[in-house]
This record gives sequence, C-alpha cells and structure tokens, in this order.
Amino acid sequence: MTTAERKSPLDQLRPVLELLADGQVHSGQALGAALGVSRAAVWKQLQKLADYGLELESVKGRGYRIPGGLDLLDAARLGQALHPEASGLLNRLVLRDEVDSTNARVLALLEEGGGHGVAMLAERQTAGRGRRGRQWISPFSAGVSLSVGWQFSGGVQLLEGLSLAVGVALAEALEEFAVPDVTLKWPNDVWCRGRKLAGVLLELTGDLTDRCGVVVGVGMNVGLPRAQAAAIDQPWIDLQQVQPGIDRNALAAAMLSRLLPLLAGYGDRGFAAYREAWQSRDAFAGQPVELRSAHQSWHGIARGVDAAGALVLELEGGKLRTFHGGEISLRGAQG
Ligand code: BTN
Repeated sequence: MTTAERKSPLDQLRPVLELLADGQVHSGQALGAALGVSRAAVWKQLQKLADYGLELESVKGRGYRIPGGLDLLDAARLGQALHPEASGLLNRLVLRDEVDSTNARVLALLEEGGGHGVAMLAERQTAGRGRRGRQWISPFSAGVSLSVGWQFSGGVQLLEGLSLAVGVALAEALEEFAVPDVTLKWPNDVWCRGRKLAGVLLELTGDLTDRCGVVVGVGMNVGLPRAQAAAIDQPWIDLQQVQPGIDRNALAAAMLSRLLPLLAGYGDRGFAAYREAWQSRDAFAGQPVELRSAHQSWHGIARGVDAAGALVLELEGGKLRTFHGGEISLRGAQG
C-alpha cells in the first residue's frame, strides 16, 4: 500500500514550492493568482524559504525563481516506479517535508508496534543521524533521506552483515541509472571515485535475542548546495557530479525496490547471498590499509570480508585476522 502523509511547518509552503520547482521566473502576481492569495501574502511565504536553506532569486521587474529548480518527492510518482514485489511488501510510505531524523521517527513507530514495512522519506532533516555520532547533512531536496522499518523474529544474530548487504542493494540501484565507478567501503559506505556518495545507519530496538526491529537508514547525496556541504567533515561526492539528471523519485523507488525484498528475505538468506556481490565492489580489495579503533590501529592488506561481513586483513607475516568494527582507510591516505 502506498500513501503519502505530510506534516510539518513547511506544509504551508508546499504549494508555492511546487510552483517554483520548475526553476522558471514567476511573477508575484502570477504566484498570488495560482495560490489564491494576495501578493503581500506571497512575499511573506517567499521570505520564509530562506529559513529552510532554499535559495530564491529575485529577477528585477519579472519575479522570482529557485535557481536550478527543485526535484520534489512525490508519492504517486515514487509508487508508480516501485517494483511490484516491493509494492507488496510496503505497508506505508510516509513523505515528510521536514523531520528531525527519519531514523528516529521510524524507530519510534517500531517501538509503538507500527513500523514494520514503513518507508519514510524526508525532503530535509534537521538532525539527520550518521554513524559514530556524526550529523548527516540533509538540505532540502538535495538527496535521498530514507528509513525503512522491519521486524525480525529470531534475534539480532540473523542480521549479521545486513548493513553490508544494504550497501550492495544501493550500489545495484545506482548501477540501474548507469552511475559509474560505484564501490563499497567497509563496513557500509557507498563510494564513488574515492569519495562518499551514500551512508547507511542501522538502528535496533526490541528484544535482541528474539523479536526485534531494525531501522535501515540511508542517506544519499544527489545535489548538495556547496554552502551547506561545507559542514561535511569527510571527502564527499554527489550524483550531480557524476551522473546529473537522475530523478529522485525514480532513484528512491529503485532503492526501495531492492531494500524491501532484501529485508523480507534476509532472515533466510543471510549475508552469504550478498558476499560475492559485496566483494566485487570492494573499494580497498588487495590494497594496503589502516584500520583504526578507538585505542588501536592495525596495518595490513585488505582481503575482503568473511561470511559474517567482518573485515579480513592480512597482517605482517601473512596472518589473516578478522575485524568487526573500526574505520578503514587507505594507508597514508584519508578516508
Ligand atoms: C553514515 O554516517 O554514513 C550513515 C548516514 C545515514 C544517514 C541516513 S539519512 C536517513 C536516515 N535518517 C537518519 O537520521 N540517518 C539516516
């Protein structure tokens, strides 16, 4: 089932945003007529756009435009592009203009007992969560911020390697749009040309030995405004730089079309079904790397992942050792 629900202070601005989304110049009078409000009321609404980080250009004597336009999320278009199998697995599609964090919202739904099969997308997150306590920068309409809730019975051990499998699903979705040079960086970053294109954050709730819920959170950079991207503290890239023009609704649908079946089958299939696909996209395979944990670091050659998704390093003397956590980077490089 596909439904759209919108609830935020941005709601009032949605109609004017839809008019300006084409990137063309619209006069105050034309906007007022289309919205059924006075020019003064239009002006008031336009002033508010800056509060949401939206750039509005005033074209002397002609009106206003959003440079480059906006590719807004749309439940009908997204739903139409969804693969039938995923459509059948989707219980509820929630589109929000603004939310603190889609992961936080879907986690709360799971805790209330209603988050299974829920996919939430937001145009903008004010407190997007990244791994290791980082903030995920999610400016309005500049990326895909998506969280999917799923209930598993059988405990958290069934979810071993899930975040890596999600990376595979995202890479395959990007390949559908012919995005070049997509690789995976252990444990769960999607890279392109040596920089981060998307990140995955899994959050768990419930009884970790039995019935538990997982939120699969995915943030993908589509076209980040430079001013807002300046706050990102790691090398990043967006689709605009490598494959411009990808429709965000089609992209989100392609992601969901792979993520929902992945979640539905993961309890039975596990990481084994995705290991080869992960290794074939391994950004660091066979390369000298450094793995850092909070207190220690190891040097070795990256030798892929084991059946559980743990990183395999070949240490000095040829000994293989597996690691379940830490941050990997190319030796002598930042990553
Ligand atoms: C990372 O640090 O690499 C993980 C980033 C995950 C960001 C996504 S955006 C949608 C979802 N909601 C959040 O608050 N975080 C995830």
